[in-house]
Amino acid sequence: MPSYVVTGASRGLGLEFVRTLSSDTQNLVIGLVRNRAAAEKAFGEAVPRNLIFLNADITDLDALKSAATETAELTGGGLDYLINNAALISETSRYRTLSDFAHDPQILIKDLQVSFEVNVIGPINTVNTFIPLLRKGQEKKVFTLSTGMADIDLINQIDIAAAAPYSISKGAVNVAVAKYNALYKSEGILFMAISPGVVDTGEGMPSSDNVEDMKAAQDMAIKFAAYAPHFTAASTPQESVNDMLKLFERSSIKNGNGGTFVSHLGNKQWL
Ligand SMILES: NC(=O)c1ccc[n+]([C@@H]2O[C@H](COP(=O)([O-])OP(=O)(O)OC[C@H]3O[C@@H](n4cnc5c(N)ncnc54)[C@H](OP(=O)(O)O)[C@@H]3O)[C@@H](O)[C@H]2O)c1
Repeated sequence: MPSYVVTGASRGLGLEFVRTLSSDTQNLVIGLVRNRAAAEKAFGEAVPRNLIFLNADITDLDALKSAATETAELTGGGLDYLINNAALISETSRYRTLSDFAHDPQILIKDLQVSFEVNVIGPINTVNTFIPLLRKGQEKKVFTLSTGMADIDLINQIDIAAAAPYSISKGAVNVAVAKYNALYKSEGILFMAISPGVVDTGEGMPSSDNVEDMKAAQDMAIKFAAYAPHFTAASTPQESVNDMLKLFERSSIKNGNGGTFVSHLGNKQWL
């Protein structure tokens, strides 16, 4: 029975991952969430027997250890796939640049720290906690959700100055993924960073009374349109998850995918 752990499974792409994966009764799916009751409610229907939500904030090492112990009991000790999906997409700096906090540098410092804590230390803690289970798994695959916003070539090509702390933290986690590949490739454990594309996970545009954020969001949309004229609308979570699951299946160390950072399409086309 293939086993999966998905972090941040309470909403957005994480919820869609566990919904899609658990629709195959052959899979055993463990969704790590911060509020199990809320996640079960968000699931919206009876949670199937092959989907188990466990509480774990990815910044809480003890909670992750407890979740790994419970996972091992459920799976018989191993784990096939770890999907590091949970992340903080900071509302403070989503449409801001690094110079927008000149009036109060502490806001930027705090935002950088919290983005790093959740988006870099969180996945590292998760991998380190689950590695003994992955070693005993059959598939041995770890996918970390990243973003095209962390691709240096894209940033330079279309001048995306916004969402700096988020993008910086995702760039750092991409390096962590490569470091894990260097460490565990010899044991046959695949590590990859994947951008899901632009996906409508319900957040939409900033509120129209926030003139600055609205202008920055429109500016970004114009740049995206110039970069990818074929791009007209965000994907649904289902479309993105289906693309990513196909990519997970065809990726392997043998195919040269270890430590890479690619889009849901398996290349550097981010939109
Ligand atoms: N949506 C996009 O267009 C897009 C584009 C590029 C990359 N991504 C990446 O794709 C992934 C999923 O994005 P999304 O749009 O689905 O995000 P989302 O809707 O904001 O959901 C984020 C998830 O992460 C969880 N989370 C946040 N902090 C956590 C923590 N400290 N411990 C445990 N869980 C935590 C949230 O749990 P709570 O419900 O408890 O808050 C939630 O389940 C992220 O890694 C994101 O960076 C998304």
